[in-house]
Amino acid sequence: VLREVFFFLSILAADGAEQLTVKYELVNGIPYNKDVPRDDNYPYCPRPLYIDNQPISCSCSHNDDIYLPSFICNTVSNADEIVSYFNRTFPTYLAEKITISNSTARIIPENIFADKQPKQITWYNNRINDIDPNAFTFTRPKLEILEIKYEPELERFPFKSLNEFPFLRELRLNNNKLRNITDLGGLALSNLEILNLDYNMIETEFPKLRFFPNLVSVSVEQSLLTSISPELPFKELQLIEVINFRGNPLGSIKTGTFSFGEQRNIQSIDLSACGISSIEPGAFFSLRSDTNVILQNNALTTLPENSFRSILETMLGGTGKMDLTGNKIVCCCDINWLVADISLQTSLIGGSCAGGAAITQLPSDYLIPLCPA
Ligand SMILES: *[C@@H]1O[C@H](CO)[C@@H](O)[C@H](O)[C@H]1NC(C)=O
Ligand SMILES: *[C@@H]1O[C@H](CO)[C@@H](O)[C@H](O)[C@H]1NC(C)=O
Ligand SMILES: *[C@@H]1O[C@H](CO)[C@@H](O)[C@H](O)[C@H]1NC(C)=O
Repeated sequence: VLREVFFFLSILAADGAEQLTVKYELVNGIPYNKDVPRDDNYPYCPRPLYIDNQPISCSCSHNDDIYLPSFICNTVSNADEIVSYFNRTFPTYLAEKITISNSTARIIPENIFADKQPKQITWYNNRINDIDPNAFTFTRPKLEILEIKYEPELERFPFKSLNEFPFLRELRLNNNKLRNITDLGGLALSNLEILNLDYNMIETEFPKLRFFPNLVSVSVEQSLLTSISPELPFKELQLIEVINFRGNPLGSIKTGTFSFGEQRNIQSIDLSACGISSIEPGAFFSLRSDTNVILQNNALTTLPENSFRSILETMLGGTGKMDLTGNKIVCCCDINWLVADISLQTSLIGGSCAGGAAITQLPSDYLIPLCPA
């Protein structure tokens, strides 16, 4: 039984002046305009576009049973060609995915995809160096995944323009050259689960994230972050599971940086290779007992009791481990509290004295003759 539902979609042009009214009917659950020329093989796709008899290298296809079209524009020469391709009326304005790859486009201009509403947008390996704040304004309603990655000239991202993307679940801006992510701090994305900013050149502080109630994973691996906001950035992220800041020159972790509230599932906090030489008391506050704190390959030479004892004690009740592999600890009296307490060592991985002996291998009375009572 094919139920036909007619409705009208009004699109207000960017300048607010023009109003275009197109008639759609619901076919196989998808708004469909049967008056629009369609592809010979894929009835939910538009016809290919030719400019001066040359085909624009954007292609469209869809499955036989899931009719949402997917678009790939590969090796297009500039953004104008992409605009021309999408600035047409298509059989349906909905789409599964739009991928732009290997082009020599320099910018993502305003309303690049006109009124098209994909669930996923992916840009990779182009030459993008600027993104208009209104690049995806009409694209917003159904967007779940936004990926712009491997763009080696992209230094800026208009974070503020992402407010009110109602269904955005994944934001992946990895392997670009982003420098400043301060504006991420004011952003409200109520459905965001994954934030990936790995492999950039971010040289600012990691900002306080406040309006990301569904965030599960935050990763900013291998950048130039100078610090992590000490204003309790994680307290309001109740669903967070994975925190990864590997490979940033943080140097030290300040009191209150990782301060948790009601979270139950934090699997790991990875601070490997961050040049960390000091961890202030209370840097990890209200840690869960099942959380792994990974401090591999840092520059820790001592483990002050007022910073480290509470971390290890918390872990005693759960499966969490503190991993100190690749730190050369100077094993003298200020780590006697740890050498002497075999039960605390059950939560410890790695951690060798500068001479090579693992802390966990030392006899518990090893330092006692050297240290005054
Ligand atoms: C899109 O096409 C309309 C006409 O169909 C035109 O008026 C408008 O300028 C085009 N927009 C862009 C950004 O090219
Ligand atoms: C883009 O180029 C890369 C490497 O040259 C290639 O692996 C990839 O398949 C290309 N993308 C598409 C969609 O063809
Ligand atoms: C980063 O961006 C913010 C807000 O856009 C600005 O106030 C700040 O000065 C920038 N920081 C650097 C280091 O450029």
